[in-house]
Amino acid sequence: MALNYASKGSGLPLVLIHAFPFSGAMWKMQAEYLAGRNFRVILPDLPGFGQSALSAADDSIEKMASQIANLLASLGINRAVIGGLSMGGYVALNLYRLFPELFAGLILCDTTFASDSDEKRRARFELIEEIKKNGMRAVVKNVLPSLTGVNTKTNNPALIRELEQNVLDTRAEAVINALRAMAGRIDHRLVLPEISIPTLLMFGEEDTITPPETGETMHRLIPNSRLRTIAGSGHLSNLETPEKFNRTLSDFLENL
Ligand code: MLT
Repeated sequence: MALNYASKGSGLPLVLIHAFPFSGAMWKMQAEYLAGRNFRVILPDLPGFGQSALSAADDSIEKMASQIANLLASLGINRAVIGGLSMGGYVALNLYRLFPELFAGLILCDTTFASDSDEKRRARFELIEEIKKNGMRAVVKNVLPSLTGVNTKTNNPALIRELEQNVLDTRAEAVINALRAMAGRIDHRLVLPEISIPTLLMFGEEDTITPPETGETMHRLIPNSRLRTIAGSGHLSNLETPEKFNRTLSDFLENL
């Protein structure tokens, strides 16, 4: 089933893939900023999230990546700058491994090349059981607190409330599918030295899920990469510190 997507602006295609458990709408501030700067910003909803349907065939991060490739083909796009945040970054790395020729540039934010540790995998399956019992409140309780940094928790309660509402509005079956898919994803360490296109790595300084040290490792392994850490931001750097994020992103894009 084709993915739903939003598109804004015209020019070089820029595809931004969302984090767990959100939708393409999490990139709206970036879309508004970049659409006026000669980019066609494309924001897909991964399977089951936003307005995209979920089918039994969407059960891995690799298949989600193939869905993005299908979407680009259906739009007649054969080259784009492609990026993702956290789970979106897992999808973007899989997409690079499968179809490197699609990429004019790569943007990886608050994400990792590594597969899950046994402990993380176990926690995902425990969360699935809790969602089956208590619905999306289990995600609000177990996932949401770690997504934002201290700065956001202290100074931006409106964003925390908005994120909570977004989580509660998300379908449990999409979340369960994504948790299983993330638990089963493969390690991409060996792919990193093969990445030949310009790559931007962005990490919130207060990110505890994928800390800046992960960015440093990726920066060492990806030949043509630049690393930017973003002060005052946790894991959701594009939402927590949008001005800094947008400036860093557009600086990278202008120099492509
Ligand atoms: C995300 O923000 O997409 C999640 O933190 C990814 C994950 O749970 O590994």
